[in-house]
Amino acid sequence: MKRIIIIGASSGLGKELALHHIKAGNIVGIAGRRENLLEEIREVNPNNVFIKKMDTTKPEAKDELKSLIEEMGGMDVFVYSSGKGFVNREMDIDKEMQTVEVNVYGFTQLINIAYHYFAEKGRGHIVGIASVAGERTMSRCPSYNASKRYNIMYLKAIRQLAEKKKYNIRVTTIMPGFVNTELLKTKYPLTTNLDKAGKLLYKAIEKGKKKTFIPGYWRFISLFMYVIPPFIWKKII
Ligand SMILES: NC(=O)c1ccc[n+]([C@@H]2O[C@H](COP(=O)([O-])OP(=O)(O)OC[C@H]3O[C@@H](n4cnc5c(N)ncnc54)[C@H](OP(=O)(O)O)[C@@H]3O)[C@@H](O)[C@H]2O)c1
Repeated sequence: MKRIIIIGASSGLGKELALHHIKAGNIVGIAGRRENLLEEIREVNPNNVFIKKMDTTKPEAKDELKSLIEEMGGMDVFVYSSGKGFVNREMDIDKEMQTVEVNVYGFTQLINIAYHYFAEKGRGHIVGIASVAGERTMSRCPSYNASKRYNIMYLKAIRQLAEKKKYNIRVTTIMPGFVNTELLKTKYPLTTNLDKAGKLLYKAIEKGKKKTFIPGYWRFISLFMYVIPPFIWKKII
């Protein structure tokens, strides 16, 4: 039985992942701002589920994570699934900043707590949800595009750092394509249904891979994105 904490578990991929772990009989800690949705998930197995109302953009989220770890008697896997994203061709500053605060600020401050916790404990697994949107410049969503690139590079950097320091910390970067969640306001071609994406996410984390595309064919689409000449790419995106 493992103890997993999922930040951003009130909906979407984080919620699906939480439900899979509850089903597997694991101890699951879930966090997010919408406490009523977290309570509904806890109802599935009140003995094994711990909830924490948390806004990852606030500095106090660091202490809230520490207290959740304590309440659960420890943590083996940490997942940051919180995310914001908008198509923002009008460059609305509120949308840009919300995205940066959750995807960069919140991501960094909580992964830092998990990293130090696992370094001290001697082992652990950190999982971050990046996106294929971080692969190449996308003018329709500047902050989302850049924040997902940040997630990819940051996770790779801490994996290298942990290896250099000989810490037994596994780091997994999840690269979803389009998944029909609240975040994806438009249905794009090749959108995967949430149920399928949730199963793939659960399996990818169990396998402990370094980097996984969800579904797997996005690995090839990502490679293809790089061979499109810049003058055509600019028109598409
Ligand atoms: N859907 C896609 O097509 C797609 C593709 C690639 C990558 N992703 C990534 O997958 C991750 C999960 O997104 P999703 O698609 O599952 O969308 P979602 O259903 O909108 O879930 C987003 C989660 O983030 C949480 N969140 C947002 N702001 C927060 C804040 N300030 N503090 C704490 N939690 C916050 C939400 O909880 P509360 O609102 O309750 O706080 C919610 O649980 C994101 O990182 C997203 O970028 C999604």
